[in-house]
Amino acid sequence: MSRSMKAWTRKTYGPADGVALEHTSMPVPRRGEVLLRVRATALNAGDVRLLLGDPLLVRPVFGLTRPKHPVRGMEVAGTVVALGADVVGAEVGEEVVGELVGGGGLGEYVRVPAARLVPIPTDIAADAAACLPVAGGTAWQALDLAGVGLADGGHAAGGAPRVLIIGASGGVGTFAVQLATLRGAEVWATCRDRNAPLIEQLGAVRTFDHRESPLSTLADGRFDAIIDIAGGMPLRELKRLVVPGGTVVLVTGDGGHVLGPVPRMLRAVFLSIGSRSIRPLAATPRPEVLAKLLDLVAEGRIVPVIEREYPFAEASAALSRLEAGHTVGKLVVAGTAV
Ligand SMILES: NC(=O)c1ccc[n+]([C@@H]2O[C@H](COP(=O)([O-])OP(=O)(O)OC[C@H]3O[C@@H](n4cnc5c(N)ncnc54)[C@H](OP(=O)(O)O)[C@@H]3O)[C@@H](O)[C@H]2O)c1
Repeated sequence: MSRSMKAWTRKTYGPADGVALEHTSMPVPRRGEVLLRVRATALNAGDVRLLLGDPLLVRPVFGLTRPKHPVRGMEVAGTVVALGADVVGAEVGEEVVGELVGGGGLGEYVRVPAARLVPIPTDIAADAAACLPVAGGTAWQALDLAGVGLADGGHAAGGAPRVLIIGASGGVGTFAVQLATLRGAEVWATCRDRNAPLIEQLGAVRTFDHRESPLSTLADGRFDAIIDIAGGMPLRELKRLVVPGGTVVLVTGDGGHVLGPVPRMLRAVFLSIGSRSIRPLAATPRPEVLAKLLDLVAEGRIVPVIEREYPFAEASAALSRLEAGHTVGKLVVAGTAV
């Protein structure tokens, strides 16, 4: 095994067109970590934020003047090629998937805590598995927080809970629609008209184009829960749309250049006084959820929606595509080991 590898790197904050393919030293797995040869990496809205260092609030954690982690890619599927000390439950040669909080998936190899990884069932392709940890995991945790499909998840008397997914056509949204449907909800969704057939195929019974049919025209208390993945709508409006006892979950990371979503999330705390709550989500890596998502994919009950898969040599084009916005589902970059 050579001691150097190729990785798509950006050493300063800035747009995707400044990412370059560089030779860098091969990571060495530390205690409790494994070394993966990357087979597929899926991109997320968070990759663009961390490329740009925007909002500024992320910089104290992810690098004050330059990125601490210059290689993006937070969802990775790969083959275990080496074990660090004290690794239990992982074997060389195993195909696994997991979340890399700091990134690193756009390199040929990456080191990952073994406890974060889940084996990929043999009938699931690496590109499909790579879509699950962040996008699928966030959708799952948002529905949990909203009480959708949980034993104690209250909803309007009689019938299925009605759930509105705002921003249904992206990475998180395409999973949220499918998972809410699986959990027995009646799903309404917002997306551009051109994406409505896909979102309905994934389970939504009704779709709105957010630019032409503003949600402000809907009557009070139409939904048991709202999952807001897009932002942009006043919190009081969102709150008005849920029933007493209903919950609005804020997933979006959008906001101002300095503090990002934080002011909106603080307002949510004040507006949550009363019977309708607005709850910001901070999703975390959850291997047990990832294992359930893999089972659902293996059973054909959910399908990762992939707009396009790029070869490793075109990873910079994939990041530029993500930065341009309006992607449908996920963008995936294949590893060099495919
Ligand atoms: N809270 C957490 O823990 C957590 C975890 C993961 C992700 N996130 C955040 O979740 C958001 C979505 O992530 P993602 O990876 O799914 O991004 P994405 O793939 O870019 O999806 C964003 C979606 O929002 C839609 N959208 C944008 N503006 C809209 C509007 N005004 N009304 C309705 N829909 C609108 C987009 O559709 P069009 O642009 O085509 O209209 C797209 O479907 C990001 O802000 C990300 O930072 C948060």
